[in-house]
Amino acid sequence: MVSNQRPLEIALFGATGFTGGLVADYLARHAPADLRWTLAGRNLERLAAVRQRLAAIEPRWANLPLTVARADDPASLQALAASSKVLISTVGPFLQLGEALVAACAAAGTDYADITGEPEFVDAMYVKYHETALVNRARLVHCCGFDAIPSDLGALFTVRHCPPQARIALRAVVRLDQAAFSSGTMRSALGAAARPAAMWRAARRRHALERRLEPARQPVRVTLGWPRPDGAGGWLVPMPTIDPQIVARSARALGGYGSSLSYQHMLRLAHLWQVLGLPLAVTALLLAAQPGPLRRRLQARYPLGEGPSAKQRAQSSFAIEFTATCHGAEGKIERVCCRVSGGDPGYTETSMMLAESALCLARDALPQRFGQLTPAAALGDALLARLQRAGMGFAVVGSAS
Ligand SMILES: NC(=O)c1ccc[n+]([C@@H]2O[C@H](COP(=O)([O-])OP(=O)(O)OC[C@H]3O[C@@H](n4cnc5c(N)ncnc54)[C@H](OP(=O)(O)O)[C@@H]3O)[C@@H](O)[C@H]2O)c1
Repeated sequence: MVSNQRPLEIALFGATGFTGGLVADYLARHAPADLRWTLAGRNLERLAAVRQRLAAIEPRWANLPLTVARADDPASLQALAASSKVLISTVGPFLQLGEALVAACAAAGTDYADITGEPEFVDAMYVKYHETALVNRARLVHCCGFDAIPSDLGALFTVRHCPPQARIALRAVVRLDQAAFSSGTMRSALGAAARPAAMWRAARRRHALERRLEPARQPVRVTLGWPRPDGAGGWLVPMPTIDPQIVARSARALGGYGSSLSYQHMLRLAHLWQVLGLPLAVTALLLAAQPGPLRRRLQARYPLGEGPSAKQRAQSSFAIEFTATCHGAEGKIERVCCRVSGGDPGYTETSMMLAESALCLARDALPQRFGQLTPAAALGDALLARLQRAGMGFAVVGSAS
């Protein structure tokens, strides 16, 4: 109903950035002709340039409204949140730039989605705004990009093919082919790596509040796993992203992930030297992220608004292979294997996933759940259907008893 009361259905904050621009292009090509939406950002001229590009894709968007708003101007964000049913954001690093918008959406009862992969930000937003969003019936849905929709919906898709009362050990193996990163992603990774203690404190505060508000409905355990050969010439290493936390939260919120779930999230590397180099790369990132001349020099190497070219993105792809080992009654063991796959994970698919999440929030019949939610808990089947229609692969590739 909010959709009809507010002038706009979707506001895209960050439309002038690298990923935001791709989201705008996707909406220009795929949004329903009658969608009421706006491009929002801090610079009117740059917004007008984006609109001109969209009009070349689809002339009906030549008069799309433009809205000036700044991450450091809460009043502008409150006005934006009050004017739209759904607000989506690509303005990051989210730890630095994201909070005021989440606060505005929670207060205005506006559904919100972003593409953060920063665990400290997600935990801090839960502690500060989950209860306000519950009261005002706003859905706050973080991680609507490659972090963590393919894992989250892939896990949901896989457990649906498992025997309902089994104890499920689910392993996801991520394969990336020629993935490259934008400047914004590098700046966000540097910012998050600089704050391990703050990340840990935010997680503890979140757990304390969760224990009070949401007593776990289902036992869920995330296991880390050790580097090991994968039996096909490659290597598996633990993948330190936010995905396992999101999968575990979805299982707790939705239930029905077997009678109990353990989840492991691994990255497949082709060569032993990559396995040995990974801890060195992580250590180098941690050292480089500490405040000082090295961080300033590194950040200067990543100018705003740049990312992999269309040609690079066209050559990039991902697949996540899920293997569920299901322990049933009387010691019966069944194995279910599923695969989620798509093109360039970081930008082409991320922009599609955020845009489809926005359309889903704006137009689809969704479960009446509010507060901070995972993509699976907020959007579940409706988003799964949208992603499949958009060309992302979700398939059962094998099962055996
Ligand atoms: N999880 C995932 O799968 C995934 C994938 C891709 C990206 N990301 C994340 O998305 C974020 C954006 O990445 P990107 O490569 O698109 O970065 P980007 O090109 O630098 O874009 C950043 C955007 O933020 C805007 N901005 C910066 N400061 C602002 C302020 N004070 N007020 C309003 N707008 C402001 C910029 O506006 P101007 O154009 O005016 O400078 C720009 O539109 C990063 O945090 C990145 O980690 C996540």
